[in-house]
Amino acid sequence: MAARQPFTDTDTADEAVRATCDDASICKRFATSKGYWKDPYVQYFVRSVGERKAPEINRGYYARVQGMNHLLDAFIRKTECDCQVISLGAGLDTTFWRLKDENLMPRKYFEVDFPTVVARKIHNIKTKPPLSKPLIETHSTDSLLLDGHSLDSDRYCIVGADLRDISNLDEKLKKFQLNPELPTLLVTECVLVYMTPSQSSRLVHWAADTFHTAMFINYEQKERFLKAGWEHADALDMMTVYSVLPQDDVTRIERLEFLDEKELLQQLLQHYSICWAIKDKLKLGKGQLGFSYISGI
Ligand SMILES: C[S@@+](CC[C@H](N)C(=O)[O-])C[C@H]1O[C@@H](n2cnc3c(N)ncnc32)[C@H](O)[C@@H]1O
Repeated sequence: MAARQPFTDTDTADEAVRATCDDASICKRFATSKGYWKDPYVQYFVRSVGERKAPEINRGYYARVQGMNHLLDAFIRKTECDCQVISLGAGLDTTFWRLKDENLMPRKYFEVDFPTVVARKIHNIKTKPPLSKPLIETHSTDSLLLDGHSLDSDRYCIVGADLRDISNLDEKLKKFQLNPELPTLLVTECVLVYMTPSQSSRLVHWAADTFHTAMFINYEQKERFLKAGWEHADALDMMTVYSVLPQDDVTRIERLEFLDEKELLQQLLQHYSICWAIKDKLKLGKGQLGFSYISGI
């Protein structure tokens, strides 16, 4: 099949992809309103709780968010926050604010998404003090860059870019002081699936070529990492992740809503996976960066 190019921000197919960030945040907003986990910031991106979602969807999001957070926090702790995080296709994600509240802020937290998604996110940050205050508090000078299309502060930066255009992505991130020498965590939560295999492979290759000590966490598709220059890769399907999450909390959320069709949840969770890949020149120790220390896996 011929490659589609050039890609523009006005492409209709891309518009549908951009809309997926609302779907993800709407589901997260609903699940948090039910008490599956706490996120005091998602309300500033999705105003109303919206339509009820089925319990298996809520449990699926619970496993996704807790599983991703587990790996992310393990990397940040292992590097004692002396690292950077790049969330690729971050959408309206609120992880930066959680990390700030939990004293787990990396040196710098970067987010990338299409320019129109970024513009919407920046508008919300600008107009909602609970979102903008933490940025101002963690910024040392008066010169915080906050215009319609970019936001750059000492600890948090949002970049509008197309992940399929690697040289532009690389250039923009470096302009905002991305440091290839620092241990780096790359996160794609439900993002690579919207790209062709060769486009996502170029992105994963770029990450392997750019950073010598890094972890890449990907929710959704397995494989691909070993072929793309990563030293070590692992994947767990979400049913397994669900079974190794702290079981007292799993018992708590299972009491929140009655679930009739347990098999449906099982089928749903088995369909997805979290995959993580590691390059470890600085010898952080890959054994402690997966799920092993909570599960023995
Ligand atoms: C399903 S949403 C997930 C958002 C967020 N990671 C989460 O889990 O809440 C997918 C996100 O990836 C972004 N995305 C997909 N392809 C992209 C591309 N080529 N360039 C930039 N962003 C992209 C979309 O705009 C959207 O915000």
